[in-house]
Amino acid sequence: MLDSITRGFKKAKTFLVTGGAGFMGSEFVRQKLKNLNDRIIVLDFLTYAGNLDNLKEFLNEENIIFPLEQEAILNVKRYWENENFSYEIERIDYDFERIRYKTKDYKVTLIRLNELQEKVLEILKKQKFVFVIGNIMDKKITNILFNISDIIVHYAAETHVDRSIIDADSFIKTDIYGTYILLESLRKNKNVEKFIHVSTDEVYGPAPEGVSFKETDPINPKNPYSASKASADRLCSAYHNTYGVPIIIVRPSNNYGPYQYPEKAIPLFITNALEDKPLPLYGDGKNVRDWLYVEDCCRAIDLVIEKGEIGEVYNIGASQEIQNIKMANKILEILNKPKDLIKFTKDRLGHDRRYSLNWNKIKGLGWKPEIDFEIGLEKTVKWYKENQEWWRKIKEKSLEYKKFYQLYYNRRKE
Ligand SMILES: NC(=O)c1ccc[n+]([C@@H]2O[C@H](COP(=O)([O-])OP(=O)(O)OC[C@H]3O[C@@H](n4cnc5c(N)ncnc54)[C@H](O)[C@@H]3O)[C@@H](O)[C@H]2O)c1
Repeated sequence: MLDSITRGFKKAKTFLVTGGAGFMGSEFVRQKLKNLNDRIIVLDFLTYAGNLDNLKEFLNEENIIFPLEQEAILNVKRYWENENFSYEIERIDYDFERIRYKTKDYKVTLIRLNELQEKVLEILKKQKFVFVIGNIMDKKITNILFNISDIIVHYAAETHVDRSIIDADSFIKTDIYGTYILLESLRKNKNVEKFIHVSTDEVYGPAPEGVSFKETDPINPKNPYSASKASADRLCSAYHNTYGVPIIIVRPSNNYGPYQYPEKAIPLFITNALEDKPLPLYGDGKNVRDWLYVEDCCRAIDLVIEKGEIGEVYNIGASQEIQNIKMANKILEILNKPKDLIKFTKDRLGHDRRYSLNWNKIKGLGWKPEIDFEIGLEKTVKWYKENQEWWRKIKEKSLEYKKFYQLYYNRRKE
């Protein structure tokens, strides 16, 4: 059955994208679905950062599935249909209330776990895309999905440094243990041709003035987020070295663009400015980031899938380093808002001063970023201006967002 789906067409591939409802993962899916042949399975747990609206145009009545054990299905149905029914389940952190909230505008089909493979293949016979709600730590699910995929692109992670400073628990679980579960599935499923692990430039730690890190430089993560990403990065390398499994690691610099959750600096500043609210800027505002437009980053990852060498690491940078304060000022200029909206706040604990990558290696494969920061920022501002419904739903309706904002910014004023 698998052959007829994935190998029956000449170049057709089935991609499993973890974290495909997030910012970067959803851009990758959008780019891939433009290709006539490829099929995509997204595996995403719909945490606070995962958003079905990011993939709205590809979702329909049939292609969102939520695999569960038989007994859980009955209980979840009762729980969702009856306000008075409370239901606890022991499986990995499944917060059914959150998933209900996240999926309320969509039709989700609850299916039995032992029907997952059959169901996914059935959907992929009719269309190119299927969305599976599930946790990367759930090895029953990952084993099944790896068995029917050719290429894995692993984006799923807890990603916000500030949250990792408040509580690193979910970072250790998802970023490290979750990656380990995927690597174990990779060992078992020899059909998988390539596993792309999306790491980060933050694993190198802060770059001294004048230095841009190469892939061979030692890693030196300095906060709980980057330390969990560094652990996952090294686990991938260890699995390749020990078991010979086909892994490539990419380390992109800071991405920006449409659909980024508005707790991250650029979308936070843009949306706050649109609401005439203060832009909370850490410390002296002189921390430097190398900004990479998300479309450019996903093109780079696609090229690595095609031309990258198994076992190698590829930095993906843009050489567009800019201080945070300059970035904030540019946003205010584009929106024609006053500079005094910038409010300096207490610095992030352990805040890395500067990130910088040498990306000659991926340049050698034939990639370079196409979108200058100035243009990319204008495009991004325009997107947030024109898609207010998308971010207002998060900022105004999500309790999770309000809780974090209150905890992190309102209490940190100096
Ligand atoms: N955004 C950046 O600037 C940047 C830069 C370099 C590397 N990265 C890496 O790229 C990847 C994607 O980043 P992003 O900014 O798109 O993140 P994001 O926070 O927007 O999205 C993360 C996605 O992962 C999903 N997820 C989280 N835990 C999960 C779990 N246990 N099981 C299944 N799905 C789960 C979430 O629901 C969400 O859809 C991450 O691995 C991140 O570390 C990001």
